[in-house]
Amino acid sequence: MRTIIQQRERAMKQIQRFTLCELTLPVKTLFTGYLLTIGLGLLMAGAQIMLTHGMADGKFGLSVDDIVYSYHGQPGTKLESKLNGSMKDMAPPEVRMALIKWASAGAPASEWEGTIKPHVNKYCAPCHSSMPGLANISDKAVMDTMTKVDKGASVSTLTRVSHIHLFGISFIFFFVGWIFTYATGFSHMVKGILILTPFAFLIVDIISWWLTKLEPGFAWLVIIGGFGYSLASTVMIFTSLYQLWFKNCRLQIE
Ligand code: HEC
Repeated sequence: MRTIIQQRERAMKQIQRFTLCELTLPVKTLFTGYLLTIGLGLLMAGAQIMLTHGMADGKFGLSVDDIVYSYHGQPGTKLESKLNGSMKDMAPPEVRMALIKWASAGAPASEWEGTIKPHVNKYCAPCHSSMPGLANISDKAVMDTMTKVDKGASVSTLTRVSHIHLFGISFIFFFVGWIFTYATGFSHMVKGILILTPFAFLIVDIISWWLTKLEPGFAWLVIIGGFGYSLASTVMIFTSLYQLWFKNCRLQIE
């Protein structure tokens, strides 16, 4: 007797008032319009990430380095990295060391005229003030851009972008998740997890921006966060669209 009541209670709990395939046409078109627009928006967001963060390390495609450069910044200055790289052989070692020291000391203006500029004029200017398109680094203003330390995203930028993402994207997930509550074929548990996942990954993603600013090792968490919520919302969007239009309602009545 008892088990029958329990079974019935359990069955009652599984009953769903609406399912996607049974909705009226206007509601279906509303949901479909929203899901398609959001899907397109997610694709555009992906493209935007590739074009901004993806190019941060100078190479196409998103890598952990890109994330580190975007949020944490780059160690050293451009002048130092060039003098350790492609410009290594352009000056004798002692001149090269003098330039590197000057850059890492914050490029003090007091040493420019007396010490640094003569070196630059002698060893660097032959190319850098004559070849078109090459930065004219014997001009102090141009050199200043090569000796700036890249600190990554500032706290004010991060605060602004964080709150916009948290408020804005949670609305997207809220409606995608709400529509998905009308889907069938998933247990309540699986559905609940799928609906919660994007929110959880969004929070992980935003927190990891701040962690990466402090400590570059957290960059991979940014990628996992972004990948996680894209994947979970893609599953919900496609499932909902499929069940809205292609699922045979009669099959579900058990
Ligand atoms: C033989 C010609 C030549 C000489 C001499 C030369 N450079 Fe360059 N430099 C280049 C070229 C070509 C590039 C662009 C390619 C690259 O970045 O490696 C460049 C790029 C740079 C850049 C990056 C500029 C940018 O806009 O990103 C810096 C900084 C630089 N050089 C510093 C120096 C310094 C300092 C010296 C003197 C010690 C020097 N270069 C001497 C040819 C030269």
